[in-house]
Amino acid sequence: MVALIASLHLPGDKSISHRALLLAALCEGETRINGLLVAEDVRATYNALRALGVECSPFAPDVTVRGGGPSALRSPVDVVDCGNSGTTARLLAGMVAGCPSVSVTLTGDASLSRRPMQRVADPLRAMGAELSLSARGTLPMHIRGAALRETSHVLPVASAQVKSALLLAGVASGCAVTVQEPLPSRDHTERMLRALGIPISESRTDAQISTHMGAVGAVQARNVTVPGDSSAAAVFAALAVLSMNGEIVLQAVGLNPTRLGWVRLLQQMGAHVEVCHSKLAPDGIGEPVGAVRARSSRLRGITIGANVIPETIDELVLLACVAACAEGQTVIAGAAELRVKESDRIHLTVRNLRAVGVHAEERADGMVIEGTSAPLRGVVHTEGDHRQAMAFGMLGARHGNAITVDNPDCVRVSYPTYWDDLRRVSASFPAAQSTLSS
Ligand code: S3P
Repeated sequence: MVALIASLHLPGDKSISHRALLLAALCEGETRINGLLVAEDVRATYNALRALGVECSPFAPDVTVRGGGPSALRSPVDVVDCGNSGTTARLLAGMVAGCPSVSVTLTGDASLSRRPMQRVADPLRAMGAELSLSARGTLPMHIRGAALRETSHVLPVASAQVKSALLLAGVASGCAVTVQEPLPSRDHTERMLRALGIPISESRTDAQISTHMGAVGAVQARNVTVPGDSSAAAVFAALAVLSMNGEIVLQAVGLNPTRLGWVRLLQQMGAHVEVCHSKLAPDGIGEPVGAVRARSSRLRGITIGANVIPETIDELVLLACVAACAEGQTVIAGAAELRVKESDRIHLTVRNLRAVGVHAEERADGMVIEGTSAPLRGVVHTEGDHRQAMAFGMLGARHGNAITVDNPDCVRVSYPTYWDDLRRVSASFPAAQSTLSS
């Protein structure tokens, strides 16, 4: 017998919410966005648009943006604070770099102010953008919008944020852009651009993926329905997998394959996780949506290699917590990018795993985790990183709530109702234990 949770309504996808707002501002006409993620990261993008003179209805899951095209954007009177949101800072940088009517300074919180911005500044400069960074290559970033030229970029590391910044710079400036990446990164921007009628194509070899966007004229607005966040779904799927005999069905989850590395990796670990009823989301933004079903499973350790890192990048802290409850060793390699996320996610995840009683070892580009059936308890430090809070919160829920998260409130950047949902779902599952002891 399994305890079945019929449905959990997940918040809107964070990546798609940012893109829906930014593209609405570049379009001409009214965009109605349904299911926008109402959380601090997306609020930072929304506030930035308002500061740039874009007319928006109040910040809510259903929001209307009245775009007037790139030339309607105006210089904000103050600096634009991107808060904790790397996606806001990088995508916005690309967008305004191609708007000659705009001059702006982007700042962020302590975490965002440590994160590398050179990776977006350098290729934007190659397009003709005028911008400056701190001496350390970080925020604050000052941008004076300019007319940009057609360019082809080779990114050393796959990054949807950098790729999207360059594509948005191209849309704002009307010029063609080509971006080559060593591995595919999430393609929400490309899908949305295609839905808006912008010519965009992709070609692949074994060694790279190339995205080409043709020159762009005026773009007419169209409505967007944002699917449920697949990174949020991953946390609750993991909770069900680690339960004694629970099962969960998550509805209306975004099922874009570039985001579903976690499903494939959980399956490799032996988890019963499946994706069902996939169809395209309404409003035709080209995003598949459907249900994810997950249930209690016995897990084994696996090796997670470099080739799956981009499609799993936001779920690696979570998978490390799941690996702590699997039989044997899990190795994560080729994931040095984790060091420049909201926290150094290699160092901090290993430190937190050890703090709750798991044997884990830090490597330059990843970590090694030894699964255990021992009860886990202790205090974890998030350093304000929402993914640390959610992953270790999930692990704590499966271990009799014996894990304390030092700063639970940091989930507000991506999932403000996380703790309520976690409490509700875990209360429906039978007594918490890790799978090794079942
Ligand atoms: C994101 C891309 C990823 C991801 C981030 C959101 C996006 O970052 O880690 O949370 O919305 O484009 P990178 O582009 O740096 O890999």
